Amino acid sequence: MSGLAGGFRRLGALRLSTLAAAGATATLLAASPPTRRLVMSAAGAAGRAAQFLATGSVRYTAGAYEAAARRWAADGSEAAVAAAALDGKHYVVSGANAGLGLEVARGLAAHGGVVHLLCRSEQRGRAAVEELVVDGAAAAAAGGDVDRGAAEADLRRRVLLHVVDISSLASIDTFAAGYLADGTPLHGLVNNAGVMLDTVIPSADGIESVFATNTLGTFALTERLLPAAVATPGPSVVVVVSSAGMLTADLEVEGVATAATVRDSPPASPGGASRPDSGGTLVAGARQDGSAAYAVTKRQQLALVEAWAATAPPGVAFHACHPADQWEAMRARLGSGGFWFDRAPAAKHLWLGGTGYDEGAPAALVAELRALVDAKGQGV
Ligand SMILES: NC(=O)c1ccc[n+]([C@@H]2O[C@H](COP(=O)([O-])OP(=O)(O)OC[C@H]3O[C@@H](n4cnc5c(N)ncnc54)[C@H](OP(=O)(O)O)[C@@H]3O)[C@@H](O)[C@H]2O)c1
Repeated sequence: MSGLAGGFRRLGALRLSTLAAAGATATLLAASPPTRRLVMSAAGAAGRAAQFLATGSVRYTAGAYEAAARRWAADGSEAAVAAAALDGKHYVVSGANAGLGLEVARGLAAHGGVVHLLCRSEQRGRAAVEELVVDGAAAAAAGGDVDRGAAEADLRRRVLLHVVDISSLASIDTFAAGYLADGTPLHGLVNNAGVMLDTVIPSADGIESVFATNTLGTFALTERLLPAAVATPGPSVVVVVSSAGMLTADLEVEGVATAATVRDSPPASPGGASRPDSGGTLVAGARQDGSAAYAVTKRQQLALVEAWAATAPPGVAFHACHPADQWEAMRARLGSGGFWFDRAPAAKHLWLGGTGYDEGAPAALVAELRALVDAKGQGV
């Protein structure tokens, strides 16, 4: 299903083995106060990774999903999702040409929504539209209540492609300006586009691409489209497809812009991992710990949801989720600012994870990102 699924599984295993080794080595050397601090930190991180693996091996499995699905069938939530009527409502889904984004778009279209697919490749985006239209029409016709040609014509009006690179502030700005100028309502925004990269690749703005896509792109797209959601009569919802992988990461706030800025020179030693390099900056083409970079951005996504929920305009709810919960989060049954898994609010931190942060940290992250966007000349 997914290009990210393998990386997600790697996240726990890799981090645990690396950190456990670091923890053991540091323990042997523990003599001076700085080394003791290192031991504490390595042991804490190793414990966090171990907890994540233990939790994941129980909760994030096919068996756990099947058990949850049986629960949803019994408690009626599956029937409620199946009966959802989204006729004429507008939904924007980023990264909609593959994986989970494509499936969310398929579901929204099947329930009558107008779906705006944001894809960075026109070719892959067109293929996705075609798949949704042709398969959707076949499914509707098979249901017996509609002619296949009519269903196809209807879907062509409702499944709309926009070529948008979520890692590019200018690309987001162009799309959002057009969307707002058209006066299109916004009932739901699904920030789904995401990447996990083991190589430092600069975005069009010279920002490391995992951060540029997952954190900055989510921030800029949401803030730019918020006026459309506010202007839409009735409730609107913003869903951020984060990841339980964020449970392994601390919230990085201060200096995130500097830390994510990529230096353009070639790496001094290709193959040498660096995030960041010894000079405190990232070097284009260098290797990085993609799973660590990913987890940090997924933690930042949750913090963004918390910050937005705290200042939410009336009528707009914000939710983060581990995949599978986009649908439920969109029904916005429970408040705003939460993290969802298996159709229920889930813990934002591991029990002994040590990843908690100050109440003001999410707002501070928003301020950092706003400054970064301003510095790039794309004020939101
Ligand atoms: N799959 C999992 O196990 C898992 C677990 C936890 C969280 N998640 C989260 O769920 C979301 C979707 O994951 P997935 O497994 O469906 O991933 P996927 O199969 O790799 O699909 C990612 C989608 O995002 C698009 N995308 C990436 N960068 C983009 C950009 N700069 N601009 C526009 N679109 C971009 C991709 O487009 P291209 O085809 O052009 O690359 C693709 O359509 C991600 O946010 C991920 O972090 C997934």
